[in-house]
Amino acid sequence: MSEALLITGCKQLLTLRGPVPRRGRALRDPGIIPDGALLVRDGRIVAVGTQKAIERRKDTRRAKKLDLGGGVILPGFVDSHTHLVFAGNRAEEYEQRISGATYEQIARAGGGILSTVRKVRAADADVLFARASRWISDFAAYGTTTVEAKSGYGLSPTSEVKILRVLAGLRCTQRLEIVSTFMGAHVVPVEFRNRPDAYMDLLIHKVIPVVATEGAEFCDVFCDRGAFTVEQARRILTAGRACGLAPRIHAEQLARTGAARLAVELHAASADHLEKVNAADIRALAASDVTCTLLPGCCFHLGLAHYAPARKLIDAGAIVALATDFNPGTSPTLNMQMVLSLACTQMRMTPAEAIAAATINAAYSLRRADRIGSLEVGKFADLAVFNLEDYREIPYYFGVNHCRLTMKRGSVLHGSSKMQEG
Ligand code: NIG
Ligand code: FE
Repeated sequence: MSEALLITGCKQLLTLRGPVPRRGRALRDPGIIPDGALLVRDGRIVAVGTQKAIERRKDTRRAKKLDLGGGVILPGFVDSHTHLVFAGNRAEEYEQRISGATYEQIARAGGGILSTVRKVRAADADVLFARASRWISDFAAYGTTTVEAKSGYGLSPTSEVKILRVLAGLRCTQRLEIVSTFMGAHVVPVEFRNRPDAYMDLLIHKVIPVVATEGAEFCDVFCDRGAFTVEQARRILTAGRACGLAPRIHAEQLARTGAARLAVELHAASADHLEKVNAADIRALAASDVTCTLLPGCCFHLGLAHYAPARKLIDAGAIVALATDFNPGTSPTLNMQMVLSLACTQMRMTPAEAIAAATINAAYSLRRADRIGSLEVGKFADLAVFNLEDYREIPYYFGVNHCRLTMKRGSVLHGSSKMQEG
């Protein structure tokens, strides 16, 4: 039998055990075990409980030992919405916005997403790869163990495939788990400016059929004012589904377009943003299995007061998840702890709701809730250790990184640990 690892010294072990996905009041129970311990074998959890109970098991005697010496332990964060592969930055636009220009004005003038597209097209794959690898280490340092990553800064067949291959390369070299999403429908590229239908045809007939073979699992569309219409999004997502890509949608961020209702109609895995949803949209989302992925980093970075109505969504019974939306234009952060702080103070989610949204519900939206998102027997030992006494301190001390150790499938991704032979 392979070697086991006994992890002890978990002052507060948040298991997130319970119903999947989490809705309503069930989001408030993080399944805490005080003075907890875990037994791990082959990267999976074999036992979880109080330290006393776990240490009584015979199979712990010869296990390697890792004493965490206190701290709060959570399932590793599942960041279910990022645009990981990009080049350059948009600090200049940041400054322009501070001086009064809006995100959409900058985009209409040829900046915004299209300015990052120019840089990504010009960048070699190995440069994109090296940069993304560094970001991946940073994600791990903040307690994230799984990252969804979208293409969408290429917008030509070769550049989109270049991004998806960077992601496939990262999957082979990084232990942090990376889930690829194809997002060729981010905006219409400049060479198709007056011919959006020709770009749609290119995506549907030439690009989508090949991206499923490049490791993409999902297809996403930016369905919003200045990007793609509901009708265009329906066509693209339907074509994606026919090639095995499950739909996700950027919905109701800049304007209320009906994209959230499209997500419900298509049984999308996720509808993301949702700042502009109306009461009927909330009812429709709540009655569906679509995960509502909220991205408060965008409102924070863009200086907008209109955060998504998390409270109304949760109280109506919707499945709510949280993610960073890490990207150079609207949310240049990869810190899920900061996202929890924003969710709590700006969207009135409780710390327990925010943690469930950032772990088990995000895992559900990535179709991985059977493997990750909670610390339960049979699941991967993906966890993050925080130098704190109470989990509520994670959002409370905002902008501070409390994570001292991150583990993926039982091996250390970030931080140091002294393991003792059994
Ligand atoms: O999720 N809204 C569309 N896409 C990104 C922004 C991308 C960018 O500005 O570069 C988002 O906010
Ligand atoms: Fe996004």
